[in-house]
Amino acid sequence: MIEIRGLKKAFGAKQVLRGIDLTVPTGGTTCIIGKSGCGKSVLLKHIVGLLKADEGDVFLDGKNIRDFNREEIYALRRSVGFVFQGAALFDSLTVFDNVVISLVEHGEKDTEKLDSEARRVLSAVGLLPPRSESGTAAYEKEYAIIREKKPSDLSGGMRKRVGVARALVGSPDYIFYDEPTTGLDPITSQQIDDLVGELAKSLKATSVVITHDMFSVFNIADHVVMLEAGLVQFSGSVAELRASQDPVVVEFLARYV
Ligand SMILES: Nc1ncnc2c1ncn2[C@@H]1O[C@H](COP(=O)(O)OP(=O)(O)O)[C@@H](O)[C@H]1O
Ligand SMILES: [Mg+2]
Repeated sequence: MIEIRGLKKAFGAKQVLRGIDLTVPTGGTTCIIGKSGCGKSVLLKHIVGLLKADEGDVFLDGKNIRDFNREEIYALRRSVGFVFQGAALFDSLTVFDNVVISLVEHGEKDTEKLDSEARRVLSAVGLLPPRSESGTAAYEKEYAIIREKKPSDLSGGMRKRVGVARALVGSPDYIFYDEPTTGLDPITSQQIDDLVGELAKSLKATSVVITHDMFSVFNIADHVVMLEAGLVQFSGSVAELRASQDPVVVEFLARYV
């Protein structure tokens, strides 16, 4: 479970987060919505320890990440997968190297382990046939092709899948997606939503999805949190969101649905 209490963050004179209180329950998918620039990405960066709060606390499974030493911060980074806004792949690296980069950076040199993890996550995101077909000629042929591709050889949807595959490496307890469908056409967006939804079910990880795409929210959310002007404006189920009479929520839904 992730608990955030009284989180405040300013950049210079600009107060972005003004006292965020929220709980992300373990399991299922929580969507964080809100207008562009309202602080969604900044909030996510605090949860994974990439930004430090001015005030307030983030608790991960009951532990305050403010108290973490360097090793615990590294362990935290390993227990979360992060799909960055855009795909944020390294253009000069192959799909294989993009996917296993965090393992390599943590000193993993066992090529068999890297290979097996790459196969597992590429299958999980649909860039390879199911793992059970590993060893068949068709699977091995596809693997040999996809692993050597460069991001520029791939469509936007495939690049996004590689970004998701990279986040699944090491079987994290939490997977964070920052605007996974932004910049994709409606059909590809739907496919990525389906993938996010399927992964939430098949992996026992907790998913947190930042989005301003209300179709995504209705497709995949178990729980919705809406930010507005640096505060939590709404927190509840999709049904509660739809039924909300709060003018700010009503206006947001009218604009984005
Ligand atoms: N590192 C930074 N330095 C200065 N301002 C920042 C930084 N990161 C984000 N901001 C500002 O904080 C606000 C919220 O940004 P962000 O969380 O990225 O919005 P969004 O909800 O669209 O993800 C924006 O006004 C942005 O310009
Ligand atoms: Mg953002």
